[in-house]
Amino acid sequence: MQLRHFLQFTDLSREEHEHLFARTRSIKDRFKRYERYWPLEDRTLAMIFEKQSTRTRLSFEAGMHQLGGAAIFLSTRDSQLGRGEPVEDAAQVVSRMCDVVMIRTFEQGILERFARHSRVPVINGLTNEYHPCQILADVYTYIDHRGPIRGATVAWIGDSNNVCNTWLQAAALFDFKLNVSTPPGYEVEAERINKNCATFADPMVAARGADLVTTDVWTSMGFESENEERRRDFQTWQVDAEMMRVAKKDALFMHCLPAHRGEEVAAEVIDGPQSVVWDEAENRLHTQKALLEFLVLGKL
Ligand code: CP
Ligand code: NVA
Repeated sequence: MQLRHFLQFTDLSREEHEHLFARTRSIKDRFKRYERYWPLEDRTLAMIFEKQSTRTRLSFEAGMHQLGGAAIFLSTRDSQLGRGEPVEDAAQVVSRMCDVVMIRTFEQGILERFARHSRVPVINGLTNEYHPCQILADVYTYIDHRGPIRGATVAWIGDSNNVCNTWLQAAALFDFKLNVSTPPGYEVEAERINKNCATFADPMVAARGADLVTTDVWTSMGFESENEERRRDFQTWQVDAEMMRVAKKDALFMHCLPAHRGEEVAAEVIDGPQSVVWDEAENRLHTQKALLEFLVLGKL
């Protein structure tokens, strides 16, 4: 079987993503019926975290158990990885003992170096540049609520961060429109813009007529030193009830979480009727189980 990784959203074709969504539906249904499904019995997932996490750790660890396998948590704080062992050496060792690896780290380059020296599939659990597992769950959640995403309009309000970069890749792959509004100085890097993306100085204009409005924290992990400055610069980039009113009447609201009410999103929006953030979080579990199945066993 050909070795496949999921380092960026575009590592899988549209057809492969659609296959994952079909598998997700089946795996989720079985799980809801308490039916045992153990395709990864005796398989082990290694999870390496260089940044904090609640959802990613929980969904991968619980998901692997539910598929009959085991998950091992490693962090740079309490392993040799934090003491300067080369990434290449770690990849050799980890991939001789485990069947699949998930990594949350800083630069995408670290993940790529690991993958180049790994004998087993490597999954991006978030880097400074991308968060593909999040958008896998987000697109699935959209489709679950509204049907095909092709031709829809998604509004991204806020920072041009890892989650935004991955939405940009998803827009091109699934052919939906992505309206992006960032504060001045925080624009999307020019090379990431594609034909499905339009940029707006005014977030209200970006949200107009959108089927889905989504945002993320003003300050991502690793950028904490910019916190005060960002708090000032992002004031207008809050998804509030007024912004949801200019979107489509039945527009959904998503947020990868954790959220800061009163900063990037108003409490009345995230806790309101258009918000699907809890489904979105739950779907991390189901979509990643389909991803693990695909990467370890191939297309079933
Ligand atoms: N959305 C997300 O990845 O959450 P965690 O940081 O809690 O894993
Ligand atoms: N953009 C955020 C996402 C957290 C899940 C971060 O990188 O901190």
